[in-house]
Formats: sequence, C-alpha cells, structure tokens
Amino acid sequence: MNPNLIKLQAYPFERLNELIANQTPNSQLSPISLAIGEPKHATPLIIKDALAKSVDSLSKYPSTKGTSELRQACAQWLINRFQLDEKNINENENVLPVNGTREALFALAQCVVHQGAKPVVLIPNPFYQIYEGAALLAGAEPVYYDCSVVDGDIPALWEINEKVWNRCQLLYICTPGNPTGEIAPAKTIKQLITYSLKYDFVIASDECYSEIYSPDSSPPMGLLHHAEKMANISLKNCMAFYSLSKRSNAPGLRSGFIAGSRKLIQEFFKYRTYHGCAMSLSTQAASIAAWSDESHVESNRQLYDQKFTSVIEIINSILECQKPEAGFYLWPKLPLDEVEFCKLLYSKKNVLSLPGSYLAREVNGYNPGKNRVRLALVAEQEQCIQAAQRIRELLEEL
Ligand SMILES: Cc1ncc(COP(=O)(O)O)c(C=O)c1O
Repeated sequence: MNPNLIKLQAYPFERLNELIANQTPNSQLSPISLAIGEPKHATPLIIKDALAKSVDSLSKYPSTKGTSELRQACAQWLINRFQLDEKNINENENVLPVNGTREALFALAQCVVHQGAKPVVLIPNPFYQIYEGAALLAGAEPVYYDCSVVDGDIPALWEINEKVWNRCQLLYICTPGNPTGEIAPAKTIKQLITYSLKYDFVIASDECYSEIYSPDSSPPMGLLHHAEKMANISLKNCMAFYSLSKRSNAPGLRSGFIAGSRKLIQEFFKYRTYHGCAMSLSTQAASIAAWSDESHVESNRQLYDQKFTSVIEIINSILECQKPEAGFYLWPKLPLDEVEFCKLLYSKKNVLSLPGSYLAREVNGYNPGKNRVRLALVAEQEQCIQAAQRIRELLEEL
C-alpha cells in the first residue's frame, strides 16, 4: 500500500456523519441540510437541452484535449470575464477541460510535486480538504496559512519563513474562499506571483465560486487577471480553476476547465492523458452552452443574494453574521463550541450544518474554524428562511 494513504484525514462529511450517528433529530420538524455545498437551484434548460441533443455522441471516444469548440468557449469566457488580452489566451495552449475541478485540483499536485526535494505545499486554513489530500498523496508536507483577509491583505502569508518558501512547490489559494467567502486582495495575489517567480513554485487558484457574488458588486478578479496586469503575460507558474458546478447549478455534469501558462497546461495534459478520464462529448456540448450564456448566471446570483438578505435579517439579532463578499456560505462566529452547536441544531431543530473546525487544522494552538459554523445557503429560499428561524430559536433557548 502507498504509505501516504495512512496520512489522509477523515473527510469533513465523514466526521459529520459520525457526529450525528447517535443523535435523533426532532421528528416534528422537516429536515433541512445546510451542510453540503451542493447547489440546489434548477440546472438551466439550455444545459439540459444541449446534453439531451448530443446523446448520439456517446458512441464516440472523446479526447483528453476536448473539442476545439469547447476550448474556444472556455477561452472566450475567460477573456471576457477577467478582462484578458486575447493575445495572451490561446485556446489550444492555455486551457484544458476537466471533469469538475476537484479532480484537477488533486491531480495538479501529483503532476507538479517533485518528491526528492522535501516538498512543501502551502494550503489555506480553513480549506477545501482536497488540497490537503493532494499534497499528502504527492509526498509533500502540507503547511497551512491562515487565509483571513486583514486590511486588504492576507498577512499570515508574509509570516512564512524563507526556508518554507524555498521548499514550496505548490500553493493553493481559494478565491472567493470556501468557507469564508473572502476575495483575495489584488495586492496579495500580485505579491504571491512575485514570490512564485522568485522561489519557483506553482500557484493553483481555485476560483470555482467566482460567479456567485453580490449583483451590486463588480465581479471579483482572479489570478490570471492580476498576472497579466503585472506583465506576467506568459502566466508563468499560474494555474486557475473554473467550474460549472456552482456557476451553472450543474454539479452532476462534472465539468470545469483549467487555465494557465502554456508550459503548465502542456505538462498537465501529459499527466492527464494517463490519469484522467476525457470529458464525454455530450458533457462537452452541454458545457459549451453553459459557458456561452450569462443570463442564467445572473438569475442565480439574484437568488443567492435574496437568500443572504433574508437569512441574515433573521439571525443577525442573535448572531453577528456578515454577508460574504462572494460564494454561498455563511461563516458566523458562535457563542458556543461549534461541534456542540451543530449537534444541538440537528437534534433539536433538524437542521444539518458543518462545524467550522472540520474545515481547518489547528496550527500553533489556533484553529480558525473554532467556534464557527459553515451554513451553505443552497436550499430553496423558503427552507433557508425556516432554517434561519430555527437557528435563532435554538440560540434563544440556550
Ligand atoms: C473550494 C472548492 N473547490 C472545488 C470544488 C469542486 O467543485 P467541482 O469538482 O464540482 O468543480 C468545490 C466543491 O464543493 C469547492 O468547494
């Protein structure tokens, strides 16, 4: 057996299942889950239609590179969305479709990490746990940085010592963040790019929540925009990840793409030819429809915005709760232990939520998820409102 397998930690949802295994939920109330970040809004018809119309293509093997139509649709979306110069994004060299970003985020570490050199992979804390598993299975040491944004920067990054930077081969950043909803400031990303060139490591920017932002705000910019602004036009050491799961309410489609430097895409493509499964042609057809349409994304943003407004209004009287800059999670601080809170919320109010500490690691005696809960506002508006009322009641009863 691969000895690194033993280092893998239980996934947050396994821990949650264990936590509630002996709890009996209040059967007088209907169950509501705010635990899993699985979008529940309807998948747009244009996507379903494109999928249905292309079923005949199931008789063909797809290629790892994807069709040029799909790569074109991804490249065009990327250029428009992140205000990139067309000259810097070539659909044959800078983008590659992947079957959801989860597998690509994992695979990048396997492709990039050179095990002989005491590799370090830097990981945001709190995090999406795939980063950690990817680092461990690639034979690297995960080193966690507190990703809280303070005064327009992520100061914990600059406390990392030079020895660690010298060993760093890959750094994950999640912007907008899961679970915090914070957008990494331009200043931080630019400084990270400077570091990545100085210490020669790859930046993996997970931007799968980039499209879920407040309709009144300007769209958050990401790694590639800032790289271009810094005149890193070859996007050296930069790789960004985009997904249709949250943007287009299609988590079951398993579709996303990666974009970055020609060299990285080339190497990753080689790796993926062996490891990855090519995206089926019908999924590609549905993905072209999705990346080429913005109207469904706009309505999606409106729906999340309405949910944030109504839920925060209900719980704000008892729990200080801020609307995140982006994403669909609330990440409030609690007046009690987060594990105890989630247990009580489930047993007394039949609402499932995720303890913040399950999404983070303790570093130097501090766990950034301690006394926090992650509430995914994925259910329909009415259910989210009911859940908020039950949270308020529970806290009033305690
Ligand atoms: C931060 C983050 N990155 C990546 C993913 C994976 O998304 P997908 O594989 O559906 O593209 C998720 C899914 O929940 C996520 O929360």
